[in-house]
Amino acid sequence: MVKVAILGASGGVGQPLSLLLKLCPYVSELALYDIRAAEGIGKDLSHINTNSSCVGYDKDSIEGTLSNAQVVLIPAGVPRKPGLTRDDLFKMNAGIVKSLVTAVGNFAPNARILVISNPVNSLVPIAVETLKKMGKFKPGNVMGVTNLDLVRAETFLVDYLLSKNPTVGQEQDKTTMHKKVTVIGGHSGETIIPIITDKSLVFQLDRQYENFIHRVQFGGDEIVKAKQGAGSATLSMAFAGAKFAEEILRSFYNEKPETESLSAFVYLPGLKNGKKAQKLVRDSSLEYFSLPIVLKNGTIVSIDTDILEKLSPREEQLVDTAVKELHKNIEKGKSFILDSS
Ligand code: NAI
Repeated sequence: MVKVAILGASGGVGQPLSLLLKLCPYVSELALYDIRAAEGIGKDLSHINTNSSCVGYDKDSIEGTLSNAQVVLIPAGVPRKPGLTRDDLFKMNAGIVKSLVTAVGNFAPNARILVISNPVNSLVPIAVETLKKMGKFKPGNVMGVTNLDLVRAETFLVDYLLSKNPTVGQEQDKTTMHKKVTVIGGHSGETIIPIITDKSLVFQLDRQYENFIHRVQFGGDEIVKAKQGAGSATLSMAFAGAKFAEEILRSFYNEKPETESLSAFVYLPGLKNGKKAQKLVRDSSLEYFSLPIVLKNGTIVSIDTDILEKLSPREEQLVDTAVKELHKNIEKGKSFILDSS
């Protein structure tokens, strides 16, 4: 049975994420932690009659939260407001993630760490460098959660196809059409690279193809704007985060993944096929990239580089642009740890 901990459980993402994981049949124990209100949220969820138990911890009880946890999700930190990019959040969230990952290294050193807080492109390097410094780093255990980009790409692709041909959705189940796209790269603006795997759909989209790419890359801005200062994606993020966590949990039970193109933002040099990925993006010094992952017992055992071998010229351009930006984001995260004593 698997104990799951959520750090930042009282927030806009944390609360619905906690609810969805309380409903998840693969979780036996749910531990909620935040600097405010987690005890009450844990008590509330503990009245739901699913098989798992749920406890909310106060801010001084991180050890109890993490003890024996096998999966730790981190949505702790400040979200975007209008006018802020994910990169602007770095100053606030870098220290939070550093201190929480240090606690994971101390109290749950074998846990799989799922980083949701933004900017993912810089905070995953912070998590990795923190654990490396502690001598506790296991490459298959640290994952940046980019699944919301896939959820959006699947939704938007169907929207565009339906707008061109309203009968599409009637002829086939929308979820079958979802399998025709995946997202790689990073998790911000132009680092997000949607790849339509069924190339005939690119022709169907025609001029809408560029709009589709842009909407996947900047879809988060639609929500920030519509919420008018009240934050960024929370409910769709909780859905995407819970789906991602469920795949990790499913692999603990040796069950086949439900999502074939599940990707995560990972440290390439430590993983099987990582060097191949660096070669395929034509940059052997790029240390992190989001790619489809292969899981066993909750851990990434290799990454799948097939998608990088079949890129169209337009997709190659998108990769080149993403790689340049990713270098800056990754360096920012690494130096935050390496330059601190
Ligand atoms: P929020 O402000 O509603 O919640 C953040 C929570 O973190 C608060 O409850 C706060 O008390 C808690 N927190 C702050 N410092 C903490 C610490 N040291 N330890 C434990 N908890 C702490 O923000 P929201 O909307 O829930 O977003 C959370 C993060 O998730 C943001 O960084 C946001 O950018 C990110 N996000 C990531 C997405 C992705 O696709 N990876 C999508 C949407 C949001």
